[in-house]
Amino acid sequence: MSLAGRELILGVTGSIAAYKAVYLLRELTRLGASVTVCLSEHAREFVGALTFRTLSGRPVLTNLFDPQSEDAVEHVALAERADAIVVAPATANLLAKAAHGIADDFLTTLLLAARRPLVIAPAMDGGMWEHPAVVANVATLRGRGVAVLEPDAGALASGLSGKGRFPEPDAIVEAIRRALTPVRDLAGERLLVTAGPTREPIDPVRYISNRSSGKMGYGLAGAALRRGAAVTLVSGPTALTPPPGAVFVPVQTAEEMREAVLQHLADATLVIKAAAVADYRARQAAPVKLKGKRDLTLDLTPNPDILAEVAARRTGAFIVGFAAETHDVVAHARQKLESKGIDLLVVNDVSQRGIGFDAEENEVLLLDRWSGQKALPRMAKADVADAILSHVLALRASAAVKKVARER
Ligand code: CTP
Repeated sequence: MSLAGRELILGVTGSIAAYKAVYLLRELTRLGASVTVCLSEHAREFVGALTFRTLSGRPVLTNLFDPQSEDAVEHVALAERADAIVVAPATANLLAKAAHGIADDFLTTLLLAARRPLVIAPAMDGGMWEHPAVVANVATLRGRGVAVLEPDAGALASGLSGKGRFPEPDAIVEAIRRALTPVRDLAGERLLVTAGPTREPIDPVRYISNRSSGKMGYGLAGAALRRGAAVTLVSGPTALTPPPGAVFVPVQTAEEMREAVLQHLADATLVIKAAAVADYRARQAAPVKLKGKRDLTLDLTPNPDILAEVAARRTGAFIVGFAAETHDVVAHARQKLESKGIDLLVVNDVSQRGIGFDAEENEVLLLDRWSGQKALPRMAKADVADAILSHVLALRASAAVKKVARER
């Protein structure tokens, strides 16, 4: 797809990779886009505005507060005119400001005014990408539907090596294309998704739970909404904000989750159980706080298997479960898929570091009931969510084809 006729804003911030934005600009204009470049004050320390002005053929925007400038443009009007906004390279500082709505220069004010798709290509040195503050800001932005690319790994400007290199221009162009042509392939679908852990009370202050953050389930809800589905999100307690547009049903215990799921099951066309339901609950939670330092034996009873119950109801919905395995992954997962009677199982190997529980990335195996198996490469949970949804659509289509062939 060419970018002919597309109006883009290219924001450049103060990273050593700012010079690479020049190559990106050349590629965008070569593909036919009209690009207005907006430089942060620090970006100008790295590359002069004249370079961008010459290559874009347009004034370069830098200053919000200089109405005398011949280049003065009203940021709201500019944001309205653009088809998409790209910030490349984006520093950790820009990610923080964008995540928190701070608007203290032209570029960040424009980001706050914009209602257009936003693509962010980060570049930063020395482990900053892994800092919890940056990780949280990226998660916030992705949760809002912003396409934040993963930086590349390799040698960094400081001489260190790690993740933080400016992504390749091809990857950025591809992300812009995707942002400009939102896929609506889930229009008409009704997704019921569960997320997060459940909490099973032991007494009024203590509970049994697990390390699920809810990121995978919330990522699925957000991706499905963007692709046109109506989404009901049944969630155990998490620190996440539900994606705007989802019907949000907060629950605490497995029994509450079961009730909520069964209540919303009837009209769902797709059910995805990403929640990590606690397997057991206290048979009788103590009515008052347990006291003392002596040995204590908890009397636990298994929780209902919501996924198996949903599958047994055979409502016609396509049913997806999740499994966390540490060993003999495929054998255990296949057995789980069959015993629960579901269509697709998304399998996490939780023995691997940096993926699965509470991580930003995931690397999963997809096993389906038609004996198919597909390994997805390690990627951000938002991308895993999209890949799972695409796989479901493909499986459903090919199952329908097989059914028609059998009936002939
Ligand atoms: N699930 C459920 N109700 C439960 C337990 C699990 O709906 N009481 C769902 C989860 O949402 C997930 C899948 O079943 O989609 C996970 O299955 P489970 O058998 O709990 O997997 P593990 O916890 O990995 O099981 P095991 O401890 O047997 O390995």
